[in-house]
Amino acid sequence: MSAVLLLNGPNLGILGRREPEIYGFDTLADIEAAVTATVSERGWKVIAAQHESEGELIGVVQRNYDTVGAIVNPGALMIAGWSLRDALASYPSPFIEVHLSNVWAREAFRHESVLAPLASGVIVGLGAFGYQLAARALLHRVP
Ligand code: DQA
Repeated sequence: MSAVLLLNGPNLGILGRREPEIYGFDTLADIEAAVTATVSERGWKVIAAQHESEGELIGVVQRNYDTVGAIVNPGALMIAGWSLRDALASYPSPFIEVHLSNVWAREAFRHESVLAPLASGVIVGLGAFGYQLAARALLHRVP
Protein backbone atom coordinates (compact mmCIF):
# COMPACT_ATOMS: atom_id res chain seq x y z
CA MET A 1 0.00 0.00 0.00
CA SER A 2 1.30 3.47 -0.86
CA ALA A 3 2.22 5.66 2.09
CA VAL A 4 2.84 9.31 2.89
CA LEU A 5 5.63 10.16 5.29
CA LEU A 6 4.60 12.62 8.02
CA LEU A 7 7.72 13.90 9.72
CA ASN A 8 7.83 16.22 12.70
CA GLY A 9 10.95 17.60 14.29
CA PRO A 10 11.95 18.70 17.77
CA ASN A 11 9.39 19.96 20.28
CA LEU A 12 6.43 19.01 18.10
CA GLY A 13 5.57 15.90 20.10
CA ILE A 14 4.17 18.15 22.83
CA LEU A 15 1.75 20.02 20.59
CA GLY A 16 -1.41 20.86 22.46
CA ARG A 17 0.62 21.75 25.55
CA ARG A 18 3.35 23.73 23.81
CA GLU A 19 2.69 27.50 23.76
CA PRO A 20 -0.91 26.93 22.58
CA GLU A 21 -1.34 30.64 21.91
CA ILE A 22 1.20 30.14 19.09
CA TYR A 23 0.77 26.51 18.07
CA GLY A 24 -2.86 25.83 18.99
CA PHE A 25 -4.47 23.06 21.01
CA ASP A 26 -4.37 20.23 18.47
CA THR A 27 -2.08 17.39 19.49
CA LEU A 28 0.23 15.58 17.13
CA ALA A 29 -2.14 12.60 17.36
CA ASP A 30 -4.98 14.89 16.16
CA ILE A 31 -2.83 16.03 13.25
CA GLU A 32 -1.82 12.49 12.31
CA ALA A 33 -5.47 11.43 12.37
CA ALA A 34 -6.51 14.35 10.13
CA VAL A 35 -3.74 13.64 7.61
CA THR A 36 -4.60 9.93 7.65
CA ALA A 37 -8.26 10.72 6.95
CA THR A 38 -7.32 13.03 4.07
CA VAL A 39 -4.96 10.69 2.25
CA SER A 40 -7.18 7.66 2.80
CA GLU A 41 -9.22 9.11 -0.09
CA ARG A 42 -6.53 7.69 -2.36
CA GLY A 43 -6.05 4.54 -0.31
CA TRP A 44 -2.72 5.82 1.06
CA LYS A 45 -1.59 5.16 4.59
CA VAL A 46 0.56 7.42 6.77
CA ILE A 47 3.95 6.66 8.26
CA ALA A 48 4.25 9.20 11.07
CA ALA A 49 7.41 9.96 13.03
CA GLN A 50 8.46 12.67 15.45
CA HIS A 51 11.94 12.96 16.88
CA GLU A 52 13.84 15.48 18.94
CA SER A 53 17.14 14.81 17.19
CA GLU A 54 18.17 15.47 13.62
CA GLY A 55 19.94 12.10 13.29
CA GLU A 56 16.81 10.14 14.06
CA LEU A 57 14.80 12.20 11.59
CA ILE A 58 17.40 11.50 8.91
CA GLY A 59 17.14 7.76 9.63
CA VAL A 60 13.39 7.92 9.11
CA VAL A 61 13.80 9.73 5.79
CA GLN A 62 16.42 7.24 4.57
CA ARG A 63 14.27 4.25 5.51
CA ASN A 64 11.23 5.67 3.71
CA TYR A 65 12.47 6.70 0.29
CA ASP A 66 9.70 4.52 -1.16
CA THR A 67 6.88 6.73 0.16
CA VAL A 68 4.80 8.66 -2.40
CA GLY A 69 5.42 12.03 -0.74
CA ALA A 70 6.18 13.66 2.57
CA ILE A 71 4.89 16.36 4.88
CA VAL A 72 7.72 17.80 6.94
CA ASN A 73 7.62 20.17 9.85
CA PRO A 74 11.28 20.43 10.80
CA GLY A 75 10.64 22.76 13.76
CA ALA A 76 13.75 24.79 14.53
CA LEU A 77 15.80 22.52 12.24
CA MET A 78 14.47 24.74 9.47
CA ILE A 79 17.15 27.21 10.50
CA ALA A 80 20.29 25.09 10.23
CA GLY A 81 19.31 21.46 9.73
CA TRP A 82 21.80 20.93 6.92
CA SER A 83 22.03 17.15 7.40
CA LEU A 84 18.25 16.81 7.27
CA ARG A 85 18.32 19.02 4.20
CA ASP A 86 20.81 16.66 2.55
CA ALA A 87 18.69 13.61 3.42
CA LEU A 88 15.68 15.27 1.83
CA ALA A 89 17.77 16.16 -1.24
CA SER A 90 17.94 12.41 -1.91
CA TYR A 91 14.25 11.90 -1.16
CA PRO A 92 12.80 10.98 -4.57
CA SER A 93 9.19 12.12 -4.06
CA PRO A 94 7.73 15.59 -3.48
CA PHE A 95 7.60 16.97 0.04
CA ILE A 96 5.67 19.85 1.51
CA GLU A 97 7.17 21.88 4.37
CA VAL A 98 4.67 22.95 7.04
CA HIS A 99 4.93 25.40 9.92
CA LEU A 100 1.98 25.87 12.22
CA SER A 101 2.90 29.45 13.06
CA ASN A 102 3.54 32.26 10.61
CA VAL A 103 7.31 32.19 10.93
CA TRP A 104 7.56 35.42 8.91
CA ALA A 105 5.65 37.28 11.62
CA ARG A 106 8.00 36.02 14.32
CA GLU A 107 11.65 36.45 15.32
CA ALA A 108 14.12 37.08 12.48
CA PHE A 109 15.96 33.79 13.17
CA ARG A 110 12.83 31.95 11.97
CA HIS A 111 12.80 33.68 8.60
CA GLU A 112 15.19 31.27 6.85
CA SER A 113 14.55 27.63 5.99
CA VAL A 114 17.34 25.49 4.60
CA LEU A 115 14.71 22.96 3.49
CA ALA A 116 12.36 25.31 1.66
CA PRO A 117 14.34 25.47 -1.61
CA LEU A 118 13.89 21.70 -1.95
CA ALA A 119 10.21 21.63 -1.01
CA SER A 120 7.44 21.45 -3.58
CA GLY A 121 5.64 24.02 -1.45
CA VAL A 122 5.65 25.61 1.96
CA ILE A 123 2.60 26.21 4.16
CA VAL A 124 2.97 28.54 7.13
CA GLY A 125 0.71 30.18 9.67
CA LEU A 126 -2.46 28.12 9.23
CA GLY A 127 -2.06 26.01 12.35
CA ALA A 128 -2.88 22.32 12.31
CA PHE A 129 -5.04 22.86 9.23
CA GLY A 130 -1.80 23.44 7.31
CA TYR A 131 -1.02 19.72 7.54
CA GLN A 132 -4.36 18.85 5.94
CA LEU A 133 -3.66 21.34 3.18
CA ALA A 134 -0.26 19.74 2.66
CA ALA A 135 -1.91 16.31 2.44
CA ARG A 136 -4.31 17.68 -0.14
CA ALA A 137 -1.41 19.21 -2.06
CA LEU A 138 0.24 15.78 -2.25
CA LEU A 139 -3.00 14.25 -3.48
CA HIS A 140 -3.02 16.89 -6.20
CA ARG A 141 0.67 16.56 -7.01
CA VAL A 142 1.19 12.81 -6.98
CA PRO A 143 -0.43 10.94 -9.88
C1 DQA B 1 7.52 25.71 13.82
C2 DQA B 1 8.22 27.06 13.72
C3 DQA B 1 9.67 26.94 14.15
O1 DQA B 1 10.30 28.21 14.07
C4 DQA B 1 9.74 26.45 15.59
O2 DQA B 1 11.10 26.28 15.95
C5 DQA B 1 8.98 25.21 15.80
C6 DQA B 1 7.64 25.13 15.22
C7 DQA B 1 6.01 25.82 13.48
O3 DQA B 1 5.42 24.79 13.21
O4 DQA B 1 5.46 26.91 13.53
O5 DQA B 1 9.41 24.30 16.49
O6 DQA B 1 8.11 24.81 12.90
